[in-house]
Amino acid sequence: MALVTMKPLLLQAEKENRAVGAFSVGNMEMVMGAVRAAEDTNTPIILQIAEKRLRNSPLELMAPMMVSAAKHAKVDIAVHLDHGLTLECVKAALDYGFTSVMMDCSLLPLDGNIAQTKAVVCLAAATGATVEAELGVVGGNEGDTAEHIITCTDPAVAARFEKETGIDALAVSIGNAHGNYPVLPELRFDILAEIDKVTEIPLVLHGGTGITDDMFRKAISLGIRKINIATASFDALARASKAFTSNMQQADYFGLSAANAEAVYENVKRHINVFNNK
Ligand code: 13P
Repeated sequence: MALVTMKPLLLQAEKENRAVGAFSVGNMEMVMGAVRAAEDTNTPIILQIAEKRLRNSPLELMAPMMVSAAKHAKVDIAVHLDHGLTLECVKAALDYGFTSVMMDCSLLPLDGNIAQTKAVVCLAAATGATVEAELGVVGGNEGDTAEHIITCTDPAVAARFEKETGIDALAVSIGNAHGNYPVLPELRFDILAEIDKVTEIPLVLHGGTGITDDMFRKAISLGIRKINIATASFDALARASKAFTSNMQQADYFGLSAANAEAVYENVKRHINVFNNK
């Protein structure tokens, strides 16, 4: 098994009516926990990092580790740049061997989003990497304090966006948001069904933390093939660190490291099983 591009993973998931988990990572313990969960469930996953997270977890350190983890894994793994903000970062990720990239131009007017996304498609073509783009505005904000107001994806525009950009996967906005939801979201499955009807490429659900298992299953039945999970893993790790250190009699870095990896492992495994309809 190996480092693979994201597109075949999503197409295989389409055939099997399931979704592939895309798990955000910020350090070695997160990478190790996620990969072990993928191996133990014998399920391909996507390891990803968002450009805003590079302030804490620099690309020059994370990228070689993520790529190497994928190459050595017992299952197929794609390595993805999540929410790229600049073409420079997209290019750097591709140079490090990322097999999939997303540049988030969802806040631009439609023509700007199309133009920038086409530039990413062009860059990725040189390495054969998969390209994801977002249309409509997902709530919250990956890695920042400012909240984005949700604008649901317009299905009619989605069809045009897919054709004009040549992307491989489309991230939709259907009431989903990044971070912990203050109240359970009401996802617009009616809009998702419309988007699924008029597009041909796999669909992506951001803001996976806090979405219920039943909602995940419904989204998968309506064409969602990639589901992003970030906050739930970061929170699981932080909670495990707190619990471990509060019980610690003496400083124990190695025990803490193992507890962190284990917390991410449990969270990733739980989500993989739901996304596999188990
Ligand atoms: P959560 O932080 O809500 O899980 O969202 C993850 C995500 O969509 C990353 O792009």
